[in-house]
Amino acid sequence: MHPARLPAGFEWGVSTASYQIEGAVREDGRGASVWDTFTARPGVVRNGDTGDMACDHYHRYREDVGLMAGLGLDAYRFSLSWPRILPEGRGRVEPRGLDFYDRLVDELLAHGITPTPTLFHWDLPQALEDEGGWLRRETAEAFAAYAGVVADRLGDRVQRWITLNEPFVHLAFGYAFGVHAPGRALMLDALPAAHHQLLGHGLAARELRARGAGEVWIANNCTPVRDAGSPVAAEAYDALHNRMFNDPLLVGSYPDLSAYGVTGPEWGGIVREGDLELLHGSLDGLGVNYYNPTWVTAPGEGAGLPFELAEPDKDYPRTAFDWPVVPEGLTELLTGLQARYGDALPPVWITENGCSCDDVVRAGGVDDQARVDYLAAHVDAVGEAVARGVDVRGYFVWSLLDNFEWAEGYAQRFGLVHVDYATQRRTPKASYHWYRDLIASLR
Ligand code: NOJ
Repeated sequence: MHPARLPAGFEWGVSTASYQIEGAVREDGRGASVWDTFTARPGVVRNGDTGDMACDHYHRYREDVGLMAGLGLDAYRFSLSWPRILPEGRGRVEPRGLDFYDRLVDELLAHGITPTPTLFHWDLPQALEDEGGWLRRETAEAFAAYAGVVADRLGDRVQRWITLNEPFVHLAFGYAFGVHAPGRALMLDALPAAHHQLLGHGLAARELRARGAGEVWIANNCTPVRDAGSPVAAEAYDALHNRMFNDPLLVGSYPDLSAYGVTGPEWGGIVREGDLELLHGSLDGLGVNYYNPTWVTAPGEGAGLPFELAEPDKDYPRTAFDWPVVPEGLTELLTGLQARYGDALPPVWITENGCSCDDVVRAGGVDDQARVDYLAAHVDAVGEAVARGVDVRGYFVWSLLDNFEWAEGYAQRFGLVHVDYATQRRTPKASYHWYRDLIASLR
C-alpha cells in the first residue's frame, strides 16, 4: 500500500446496481424490465435465479446505508431503476419510484456519503425493448427524458451523475451474444446499440446540465488488451471494447471499425449529423470499471469476428469466477488512457473493481483473505498510476453486498458483506473490516 501516492481528497466508495440488489420488482407500480423478462426464461440464468428478491435492498436500504457508514465511505455508487420511475419507459411518471430514491439520497446525505447515481445499469423498461430497445434511436431520446425527470426530483441534492454502466458489456452480452437481457444474439447487427447508448449519454448529459448538474460521468468497462499472437487482432479488439466507447466522448470520432463491417463515419445512417459534436467533450469524469486484461489472438477460419480471445500467457491466480488476477493491468490501463488521450482525458474514478470468492460464514465471520489481497493490490496499482501522473480521484469497490450476478445468478459473491439469501442476514466479511481500516488510516 502506498497511501502517500493518493492525492488529498481521494474518494473511497462502493458500487451496486438496482436489479442486482433491490428486489421488490412488483412493488409500488414498478414496470417490468428486460431482466424480469429474461430471468423468466428457462435455462438462461444459473439455477433459474431471478432478481425478484435479490438483497431486498428496497426495504432494507437503511440497514445497508448503515453498513456504508460503518465503512466510513465518501461516496456510494448505485443505479436507478428506470422502470420504477417510468413504468412504460416514457410518459407517465410513478411517484412512488422517485420517492424511494429520494429517501435513499436523504439517508446517504445524513451520513455524509455523496450519492453517485448511475441512470442505466442494464434494466431497460420492457416496453422500450418491445419497440426495439437500444437498436432504435428513440430509446436514446426516451433516456434523456428520463434523466430530466430524475434530475428534476433529485438534482437539488445530487451533484454528480453517471449516465451509463458498461455500454460495451451491454452491447456484447445483451445484444450481440444474447447471454444477458434482452437476450438478442445479433452479432455484428447489434452495433447500432453501441451508438444509441452513447447518443443516450450525450442527450442525457445535456438534460442534466440544463438542470445544473455539477458533473457527468460514464462508467466504461475498460481492459488492457494483450497481444497473444496477432497485433492486428489485438488492435481490432481494442477498437471494439475500449475505443468505441471512449474515443467519441474524448476525441469526437469513432475508431476504425471497418473490420466489423462498419462503413464510413455515418455507419450507414446510424450516426447522424451533430451526434459526434454532442458526444465530444461531454464528460467531466471518466468512470473506469476494471477486472482483468484481455488476451487476444487471430481468429480461426470462419470465426465471423476479426479476433479470438486467448488464454493468459502466465499462470495468474484466479477468482472464483476463474478471472485472472492481474493488478498491474490496472496501472497499465490507466497509464495507457493517459498516453492515448493526454489532455483530453478528464479526471478518472475507478467506478468498479473487485472479485468473487467462495465465501462462507464461519463462527459469525467470513475469512475472505483472497479478496483482501485482491483489493489491496489493486489500490496499490492505482497508487502507482497516480505516481506516474494519471489524475485518479477515487476508487469504488464492486460491491457492498453479495448480489445477483446476472447470468451467474447468486453463484458468484462479490460483496464486502455476505448476504444469506434465505434470511437476508448481512455479515461483514474480513474485507469489510480491511476496507474500513484502510479508509480510516488515510483520514
Ligand atoms: C460489471 C457490472 O457493471 C456489474 O453489474 C457486475 O456485477 C460486475 N461487473 C461483476 O461482474
